[in-house]
Amino acid sequence: MTASRSRIQLPAGCRGLMVSATGTGVGKTHVSTLLAKALRERGVPIGVIKPIETGCALRDGELFPADGDALRLAAGERQTLDEACPLRFALPAAPWVSARYEGTAINPENVLSSIRRVMQRHPFTIVEGAGGLLVPISAGFDMVDIARRLNLPVLLVARARLGTINDARLGVEACRSRGVTAAGVILNQNEPPTGGDHPYVLKSNGWIIEQTTGAPILAELPWNQPAECLARLSPIAGEIHGLAAGGPE
Ligand SMILES: Nc1ncnc2c1ncn2[C@@H]1O[C@H](COP(=O)(O)OP(=O)(O)O)[C@@H](O)[C@H]1O
Ligand SMILES: [Mg+2]
Repeated sequence: MTASRSRIQLPAGCRGLMVSATGTGVGKTHVSTLLAKALRERGVPIGVIKPIETGCALRDGELFPADGDALRLAAGERQTLDEACPLRFALPAAPWVSARYEGTAINPENVLSSIRRVMQRHPFTIVEGAGGLLVPISAGFDMVDIARRLNLPVLLVARARLGTINDARLGVEACRSRGVTAAGVILNQNEPPTGGDHPYVLKSNGWIIEQTTGAPILAELPWNQPAECLARLSPIAGEIHGLAAGGPE
């Protein structure tokens, strides 16, 4: 991105954000871990949490949350795995579905408490959602409700390809219709470029989304270039750092 990159929109006094996406596998963990790393490199004692992880495989007889662990490592291993991912399910599905499959239900208040605990101990916390924004957790409660109840702005990760304008607009509307701030959108090349999308389409996605939603495009991340992705997320970490330190950078 150029020097004219848009700034992240975070309300004053904001102590964290939720990284959500237009769908599953779009790049929430990719963005969350690199952002946590970029913040840690700036000396911010960053908190991380994946409050609910589904699709966990068994490891040593226990469900292992791969995303929660990746977040914990990226943030500097100061948190336990239980703090970084308190609620785990085996079935890879929406949390409500995974819980029902096991004959149980998720209590939203417990989910909120687990996030609050991490937020209380860190100046800034990254919360990775499960799936997309409207993925249900229990009856009448979904990912956007977590953001709303905790006053967390949402950083929306969208695919860098044809179809993303509609996806991103729906995501921003879903946030705003519940009074949640859309902190910005990140366009992520989450799969190898197929060459199928016209270059003009790819070049236009960012400004069209910014024009139509008013939400800033914070970065466009290339496929399989972690160092470049980190460099492109670094200015966002700088802005968050300024906020966490109590003033604009
Ligand atoms: N820009 C990228 N470059 C390379 N691999 C990526 C990129 N974005 C996502 N991936 C890979 O795609 C898969 C899905 O991304 P992930 O961040 O796990 O999605 P989510 O957390 O939204 O489900 C992972 O294997 C991840 O490493
Ligand atoms: Mg993930």
